[in-house]
Amino acid sequence: MEKEKFYITTPIYYPSDKLHIGHTYCTVATDAIARYKRLKGFDVMFLTGTDEHGQKIEDKAREAGVSPQEFVDHIVEGQRGVKDLWKLMNVSNDRFIRTTDDYHVESIQKIFRKMYDKGDIYKGTYKGKYCKPCESFWTESQLVDGKCPDCGRDVIDAEEEAYFFRLSKYAGRVRDLLVNTDFLEPRSRVNEMVNNFIDPGLEDLCVSRTSFTWGIPVDFDPGHVVYVWVDALFNYMTALGYLNERYDDCEKYWPADVHIVGKEIVRFHSIIWPAMLMSMELPLPKKVFGHGWLLLDGGKMSKSKGNVVDPYLLSEKFGVDALRFFLLRTFPFGSDGNFSNELLIQTINTDLANDLGNLLSRTTAMVNKYFGGALPEGSGATEDEQYLNGLYADARRSRSEVNLAFNFPEGDPVKFDVELISAALMLREKYEDAMEHFAPHTALAEVFRVIDRANKYIDENAPWALAKNMEQNGARLAHVLYNLLEVTRICGVLLMPFIPGSCEKLFAQIGAAEDGRTWASAARWGTLAESSAVNKGENLFPRIDMEKALTELEEAEAEARKAALPPIELEPQLTEPVDFDTFCKNDFRAVKVKACEAVKKSAKLLRFTLDDGTGTDRQILSGIHAYYEPEELVGKTLVAIVNLPPRKMMGLESQGMLLSAVHTEKGEEKLNLIMVGDAIPAGAKLC
Ligand code: MSP
Repeated sequence: MEKEKFYITTPIYYPSDKLHIGHTYCTVATDAIARYKRLKGFDVMFLTGTDEHGQKIEDKAREAGVSPQEFVDHIVEGQRGVKDLWKLMNVSNDRFIRTTDDYHVESIQKIFRKMYDKGDIYKGTYKGKYCKPCESFWTESQLVDGKCPDCGRDVIDAEEEAYFFRLSKYAGRVRDLLVNTDFLEPRSRVNEMVNNFIDPGLEDLCVSRTSFTWGIPVDFDPGHVVYVWVDALFNYMTALGYLNERYDDCEKYWPADVHIVGKEIVRFHSIIWPAMLMSMELPLPKKVFGHGWLLLDGGKMSKSKGNVVDPYLLSEKFGVDALRFFLLRTFPFGSDGNFSNELLIQTINTDLANDLGNLLSRTTAMVNKYFGGALPEGSGATEDEQYLNGLYADARRSRSEVNLAFNFPEGDPVKFDVELISAALMLREKYEDAMEHFAPHTALAEVFRVIDRANKYIDENAPWALAKNMEQNGARLAHVLYNLLEVTRICGVLLMPFIPGSCEKLFAQIGAAEDGRTWASAARWGTLAESSAVNKGENLFPRIDMEKALTELEEAEAEARKAALPPIELEPQLTEPVDFDTFCKNDFRAVKVKACEAVKKSAKLLRFTLDDGTGTDRQILSGIHAYYEPEELVGKTLVAIVNLPPRKMMGLESQGMLLSAVHTEKGEEKLNLIMVGDAIPAGAKLC
């Protein structure tokens, strides 16, 4: 039977800076949903990529002294770049689009022309407000206190000849889409869009630029480049081969099932994007989900504030899965959440080390200790327990109903079994419901409720007490341990979308074969072979010493901040030529330091008494105390320019200037006086 399709996307990221934990959050969440759908048997297409055009990139490249293409290539493909990060984070995207890819450029030009030919794009003059960092045009009424409503920064007046998209024409249909369907979620975002953008009146959108060149050229009007958001939004279709030959999956996967986007770009995805698709007479995506932001100290992370959290650093320190897990377990996906290192470590310790880690290591250790690594035949699911599978599959009975059906006397250990098995068998449905509603944190909370129940089951059954009399209690002990392995397996299956690498190891430790790692098996008790080999392997989630880890992190973060500073600040080389005769007017001489002392009341100045070969001492003042102690320079032969007019500094006359090389690296200035060897006598002319 043909598999059902599921097309899911993340936003395509601006490669203007290295990505941070906020971007990682968005991609990892999308990855977990994509993996969940694959686990359920869907034919998934998961797209991510980079949005590489626009003025911001052009400016950044200029600052870095490279071409825009070189600049983006470095951040996307380079070491620790975007692609490296997704690989590290175990992101399972099926495709990666770069908006500088030829096929995308070709499609965008065709799309622009189509809308123009239709009359939905027309030429006019743009006058308005523009936020450069956000690359967004705003009307006066959209500004907040005169500033950009997205980032709060200053906007500039802009006026240029430009093409416009008839967004106003589609206002009614877009409003209807938002208000009367489930197109945009969470629902709170609908009110925001309607009240702040649609109802105050949607104006036509400026969709071309002439003030910079780093963009896709409008092929029928050179000098204009396509507005970066038009270029960017259509990536979701060009990556499937829309109007290009590179791929041919458009029919198969379009319309997208969901675009996962951050809240500040919901406006583009829920108003502009559907309007453009309406204009192109293309099917609309089924859903846009706007997630919240990860905040730091209550505010947005940004490179310019210098408060970005580095996913490389955290995953190196705590492991990729621990980081993935933390992001999705802690913050409700639709709302903002406050990131902190403490919270990260606390979550790892509580959920992963304590709850899941302990369940796994205690269970496998006991199977080893009491049964030499494999449970005996007969320890698996009883007939009654197998019957529970049917009960839950058929009717989704409540726990009390099942208890009644079995009619257990109080204190009967079988009651604990049934409670545990019931919790495990009801889990998949709850989990599924949460995942279908883009609530990974709720899905994880459900899994951890069952893990808690399983840890309690260990205490209720006290296997160590049973083990004291193996002859009498051996069979019961084996069954208890089988139940623990089985509940661990079921939780492992449902954790796969979140911590895939660790789940592989978990399955290897409990001896779960392929058929015990499937979606179907997550709702089928008794799947694990009863005597499969159990291996107590490495501790998957070691406990972290909070104090120590926090200190180490702080140090590493400080180190990284320092390393992030531009490595070399080179003075631009002068291009104006100096003729030789002019150059020769500078009188450079070797001068020998007879005495050197710090100038009183000056933090910087040193006073040099120099032998310049004339027989009369020469005094030069130099602001280099930060780099040299006076004593260390006595006896050295330096280089001075001696025909500068004398100058007074701190009341003392300086008769010339000592030459030195100055260099700034990672924010630190280095200075070396120019020195010559003993073979050169004081007074020698340098040429
Ligand atoms: N290039 C556009 C998207 C075009 S999609 C057709 C863009 N890029 S971005 O790199 O600035 O942001 C990409 C995504 O990362 C956005 O969804 C944004 O919300 C998300 N995040 C950036 N910082 C974030 C946090 N601090 N927290 C959560 N998500 C954040 O926008």
